[in-house]
Amino acid sequence: MIKQAIIPLAGLGTRLLPLTSVLPKELLPINGKPGLEYILEEGINAGIKEFIFIISNKKREIKKYFYNDSFYKKIIKKKSKDKRLKLEFSKIRKYKKIIKFVYQNVPRGTGDAVLKCQNYVKSNYFLLFFPDDLIIKNNCSLSMIKLHKKYKSSVIASKKVKKKDVSRWGIFNLKKLNKNNFLIKDVIEKPSLKKAPSNHAVIGRYILPKKIFKILQNQKPGQNGEIHITDAIKTLIDKKEKFIGHIFSGKYLDCGTMEGYINSSIEISKL
Ligand code: G1P
Repeated sequence: MIKQAIIPLAGLGTRLLPLTSVLPKELLPINGKPGLEYILEEGINAGIKEFIFIISNKKREIKKYFYNDSFYKKIIKKKSKDKRLKLEFSKIRKYKKIIKFVYQNVPRGTGDAVLKCQNYVKSNYFLLFFPDDLIIKNNCSLSMIKLHKKYKSSVIASKKVKKKDVSRWGIFNLKKLNKNNFLIKDVIEKPSLKKAPSNHAVIGRYILPKKIFKILQNQKPGQNGEIHITDAIKTLIDKKEKFIGHIFSGKYLDCGTMEGYINSSIEISKL
């Protein structure tokens, strides 16, 4: 059963400056709600019972967002008839109960961030979300959990991207299984067009085995001197661990760039 999810939130968000000079990008509102809440909703609706947030000292506002009880209580006392306020507070309280915080104060990459959660993950598999990647109209995590049960394997979300854009993504070498799923033979972090084995990109939803923590402990830094989750996955594939790629049917929204962030609000407002 997959009941725990990890969400790395320690990134600096420089692509969304100047907004991120005062607010973590994951708290930026998308159609009236922080992007992060869409991820929480997707996870909860897929059966996740506990979220592990990886933040940094510079992103303590994320914790504050969920830990502001006395502030809410004071205002609710003054505005006792405000139903919306009470509803929002009870939602935040529910979230707070299912979130744990761990810290990554030096940005050493996604693999290093995930490794910080080692002592908290209980079962053999867990879900990993990248908060820049929103998927709407269909619960991608739920479909992936179903696949995980069927194939008893790890699962990674995927989307076909334009060939000229392959160097922005992790890219799969694959063997087709059926219409929406494939066996992952290899994965390369941000390859050049020449070296890319396909144009099937990694999107930020992963069901990973607990044994990845052992791999991460010895993982050498890769591109840009960072420890990438992609490289640890590659090591596991080389060790014959089964990984399925899932071409999800929902709509992908990239909230990590200004253009994508603006577009996300437009798309979500149409729902
Ligand atoms: C990360 C991963 C990359 C993946 C992407 C999906 O890259 O390293 O493999 O394709 O997320 O959004 P980042 O967006 O952090 O550069």
